[in-house]
Amino acid sequence: MSLATTPSKPAAESPATARVCGVAAGAELLLAGGVVAFATETVYGLGADAGNPAAVARVFAAKGRPRFNPLIVHVADLPSADRLGVLPAAARRLAEAFWPGPLTLVVPRRAGAGVCDLVSAGLDTIALRLPDHAGARALVARGGGAVAAPSANRSGAVSPTRMEHVLAEFGREIDALVDGAPSRIGIESTIVGCIGQPVLLRPGAVTRAAIEAVLGEPLRAPAGGGGITAPGQLASHYAPRATLRLDIVQPLPGEPWLTFGPAPPHAPAFPLSAGGDLTEAAARLYAQLRAADALGAPSIAVMPLPGHGLGEAIADRLQRAAAPRPR
Ligand code: TXA
Ligand code: MG
Repeated sequence: MSLATTPSKPAAESPATARVCGVAAGAELLLAGGVVAFATETVYGLGADAGNPAAVARVFAAKGRPRFNPLIVHVADLPSADRLGVLPAAARRLAEAFWPGPLTLVVPRRAGAGVCDLVSAGLDTIALRLPDHAGARALVARGGGAVAAPSANRSGAVSPTRMEHVLAEFGREIDALVDGAPSRIGIESTIVGCIGQPVLLRPGAVTRAAIEAVLGEPLRAPAGGGGITAPGQLASHYAPRATLRLDIVQPLPGEPWLTFGPAPPHAPAFPLSAGGDLTEAAARLYAQLRAADALGAPSIAVMPLPGHGLGEAIADRLQRAAAPRPR
């Protein structure tokens, strides 16, 4: 038996392309069991009411996501997080320092809180995130208060930072997309496991240094020697169709090249940040990967990037995008 769910076929009555709507209509659809894509400050999410197993199952099906890979539950305020999970002292300190913001906390799950088992893939923990995006928070608040949402891309593929990315991939499977601007940050939230000593499960938009400064101690590496950390952190992920070649200072003739900082003339080139700014590079990473991939070349070259600060999350995504794929 394959563990992966197969992508769902569009329902006969579903429109050819998803409806683009505002927060109020999106929230109504969520309450009615719909699947609604929405902008956050990191990447676009594919949301469903976390208490509705049928709606959550549609999210797994649309993404082709393995059922063992749990979803993040988005909340609109700290009391909602407290209703769904038990925040240990370290988690509370991090929540107070970084929420609303691009940090996800994995904490013990509160029994009987109304989140269906499918969301947490049967684990007794729950991943909670309070986004720093007013539209996302309003949608969550009005759409039932707990919205399970993975990034709005096919499982294993490049995350979406623009509305058009989502519509191109999911136009037929989702009920609506809440109108939104390009993602401000462009790279997913940092995930910190707060079961016992805090563990960095996924580097992301909040840097390791910022988190460690609040905790007053270093974050631990996940157990298991760097393989799978969060269940979804599979070696191959965030991958374009083309093969990715990292740390390339001399690309092949005609090979798309993602550059960082000053670069010698080359075509086609896709600058992440001409000025060598990691924040700008993170914001552009996925859109430039998608644009380079759209040329249809067999490989894409990437210039070396520094690994400090946001560079840790960028390097994590690039390494997974470059990893050999199970096909
Ligand atoms: O920025 C983000 O976090 C975006 C936006 C949409 O909020 N969401 C996102 O979701 O990146 P997704 O599904 O692409 O990644 C969620 C990660 C997966 O690696 C999953 O395994 C992990 O969170 N995760 C979820 N629940 C978990 C849990 N209980 N324990 C450990 N990891 C968990
Ligand atoms: Mg994802």
